Amino acid sequence: MLKIAPSLLACDFAELKQEVTRVKESGADILHFDVMDGQFVPNISIGLPILESLRKVTDMTIDTHLMIENPEQMIDAFCEAGSDMVSVHFEATPHIHRAIQQIKAHDKLAGVVINPGTPVESLSQILGDVDFVLIMTVNPGFGGQSFIESTLNKITWLDEYRNEHNLNFEIEVDGGVNEETGALCKAQGADILVAGSYYFKHEDYKEPVHKLKGD
Ligand code: DX5
Ligand code: ZN
Repeated sequence: MLKIAPSLLACDFAELKQEVTRVKESGADILHFDVMDGQFVPNISIGLPILESLRKVTDMTIDTHLMIENPEQMIDAFCEAGSDMVSVHFEATPHIHRAIQQIKAHDKLAGVVINPGTPVESLSQILGDVDFVLIMTVNPGFGGQSFIESTLNKITWLDEYRNEHNLNFEIEVDGGVNEETGALCKAQGADILVAGSYYFKHEDYKEPVHKLKGD
């Protein structure tokens, strides 16, 4: 069953509690929480105080996407602040295996993320250790960018890899997802679609959930 993860980056932060309530009522499955440090990506977004406040007002699964350098330094804090899923970029640390184990030590779901320019085959040594893989379908740092179609074959590759090796990590995609690009990702085997600007531009948030799920 396809899961939808609205990216809060595109919500109205002045109305955060109400936005989260509306997201839950829309039938979305996961809250995607984008953390940017102005170093790993050329933008700064939201961090620990907002995550802590959010945790107090929702029981939804919170998926923290760390777009930061030295992720090991912050993993414990983001786990303790209330994340249920935490992902780190393959490009952000020479010690991706250690970073994944650090997330798992908190009993959180651990994910590895790759940028559009990183070959998916680079992940083969870590795929047996992760709960999910996040494929960036735009260059991280900003919402509202166009989907990069050449990333689609990474989903296909991962789906085949997990079947061949009897693994059950989930495949998540992030960036430029709308009803057309979302359908392409789903057809290749994606399990979780992150959607920011497309989702939050709707008046009624149930609409993008129905359209993305294709029901
Ligand atoms: C981009 C973030 C995304 C972003 C997606 O760096 O990781 O989660 O919010 O936004 P859209 O769906 O507008 O591309
Ligand atoms: Zn993200």
